[in-house]
Amino acid sequence: MRSVIAGNWKMHKTVAEAVLLVKELLLLRRSFPADVEVIVAPPFTALQAVSRSLRGQSSIQLAAQTMHWQDTGAYTGEISPTMLMDVDVRYVILGHSERREMFGESDAYVRLKTMAALAHGLRPIVAVGETLEEHNAGRTMDKVVSQTRAALQGLTPQEIARCVVAYEPLWAIGSGMSDDPQNANAVMRSIRGSVEGLQDVPLIYGGSVRPDNMAAFAAQSDVNGALVGGASLSADSFAAIIRATQNVPA
Ligand code: PGA
Repeated sequence: MRSVIAGNWKMHKTVAEAVLLVKELLLLRRSFPADVEVIVAPPFTALQAVSRSLRGQSSIQLAAQTMHWQDTGAYTGEISPTMLMDVDVRYVILGHSERREMFGESDAYVRLKTMAALAHGLRPIVAVGETLEEHNAGRTMDKVVSQTRAALQGLTPQEIARCVVAYEPLWAIGSGMSDDPQNANAVMRSIRGSVEGLQDVPLIYGGSVRPDNMAAFAAQSDVNGALVGGASLSADSFAAIIRATQNVPA
């Protein structure tokens, strides 16, 4: 199965900074392993400029960090799937824990957004993950399985095949404390078994992924890549993470 390495730039980078970063990545693209799908998710304001910089090449794909599920309407501040398609976005991160925790994005919203993305030809990267409290209470599997089922409920096998699922334990995001790779693998195996059709879907790990720990994650049977926050903000560290998918320790 192909690997996916996605950089989530969150609320970082002006237009000029975003274009610079993507140009630096394009210069490094010959060092990327052939079977890794590389994705960057700049903030909305930089999507169009980054899209222009990426035109005519296929080594880096463009993602948005969230979207609304309606095409148009009175939804102040929101961006629709049609608007993302208009600037050649291909992927959209849905249900990131920062959206769920800070902006009230419920399982029901994530489901509506997943369906809307697929209906418009966008590939959803659906993020799931447990809080520290749930982790300590032994509720990790229940949480991620229920979030995954809620997001993908009612989709056809063909639709599920177009998704990516990101497992991001909340306590590992931005904390410098990544999950133990074997532990993450066990959780991701449960995710894979939770919905029919996920057998052939890339499952990616997120939470303090860095160049020095990526290979250990890539070595796991059910980890097919990573969703990277902080370490995706510099071309050198993001490219090192992309290369590390092939540097799997014996
Ligand atoms: P991090 O963020 O790599 O900075 O921990 C990951 C994410 O939130 O997607």
